[in-house]
Amino acid sequence: MKKRLIGILLCVMMMVSLLTACGAKETGGKSGGKTVGVCMPTKDLQRWNQDGANMKKELEEAGYVVDLQYANNEIAQQVNQIENMITSGVDVLVIASIDGGSLGTVLADAKKQNIPVIAYDRLIMETDAVSYYATFDNYMVGTIQGEYIVDALDLKNQAGPFNIELFTGSPDDNNARYFFGGAMDVLNPYIDSGKLVVVSGQKAFEEVATLNWSTEAAQSRMENLITAYYADGTKLDAVLSSNDSCAIGITNALVNGGFTKDNFPVLTGQDCDITATKNIIAGLQSMSIFKDTRTLATQVVEMVDAIMSKKEVPVNDTKTYDNGTGVIPTFLCEPVFADIDNYEELLIESGYYTADQLK
Ligand code: BGC
Repeated sequence: MKKRLIGILLCVMMMVSLLTACGAKETGGKSGGKTVGVCMPTKDLQRWNQDGANMKKELEEAGYVVDLQYANNEIAQQVNQIENMITSGVDVLVIASIDGGSLGTVLADAKKQNIPVIAYDRLIMETDAVSYYATFDNYMVGTIQGEYIVDALDLKNQAGPFNIELFTGSPDDNNARYFFGGAMDVLNPYIDSGKLVVVSGQKAFEEVATLNWSTEAAQSRMENLITAYYADGTKLDAVLSSNDSCAIGITNALVNGGFTKDNFPVLTGQDCDITATKNIIAGLQSMSIFKDTRTLATQVVEMVDAIMSKKEVPVNDTKTYDNGTGVIPTFLCEPVFADIDNYEELLIESGYYTADQLK
């Protein structure tokens, strides 16, 4: 009787451990415990910290092992990190590049080892090693910013003229031309008709670009513009800024130059960084494009899963993003804007930030 009981007990224990083992396999089942190398450009900007954390969390939840690296905005460091990931045998690479044109050589190695590469947020240029691209609709980011200025100044109805200055991002970031191009496609007709005046005359991409999206560089250019063109009391009605790191520098310069929330120009941004969102609440920035990094992370995990299980990879754009070697199949997520009227719903009620973070 005792022997039978022990037998039954042993049987039950074996079944439990067998089931647990199957369960463990099930979790890794989709991913097979594969490794994903995730390369992010820098920890300096809040968005990339969020992108990295969300990617890691979602990939790990799907059963992947994640090697997440940040490169301090240094190209050589990012190349090194990718090299090491290839050597250590990662199964997929997800890369938000620093300089989209500098990864050709290292990615040729990835291609030799049959490691698929997903360009994350920024397209990687001039290499046929890139398999897919996942991003927010960069051109739409620009048109939303342009339309925000048109609506805020009521350009369709007012005679003007209104004064504006223009800022965009880093010339080595392929996205910057889409942001700026989108915004200028909306603003140019008003500039051509004279309703909008760029007082400094600085309108070309090269003149208004900000290397590395640097807050300090944007601040110092805005300070120079104020001194040269607005110190005599000329009214500044709007500043187009392609993102928040530049907008924060522009706000610093404007506040130092004596602007207050009562005469602040319409100022655009992108990323809904905490500092920029606080500026929106204080009346020292008008809007910021909200790109929910959770959405992008989920999309990239779906791409990784599809690649790994040799299923059709979800894309929704096969025309727009040519990296110089051909069009890269892309998934575009849709951006929206946050401003003083909707930020609570968009950023706090959605759980993106807590109310305390924005105090
Ligand atoms: C991203 C923006 C970001 C900028 C600076 C761009 O490539 O799309 O969201 O503000 O880089 O990091």
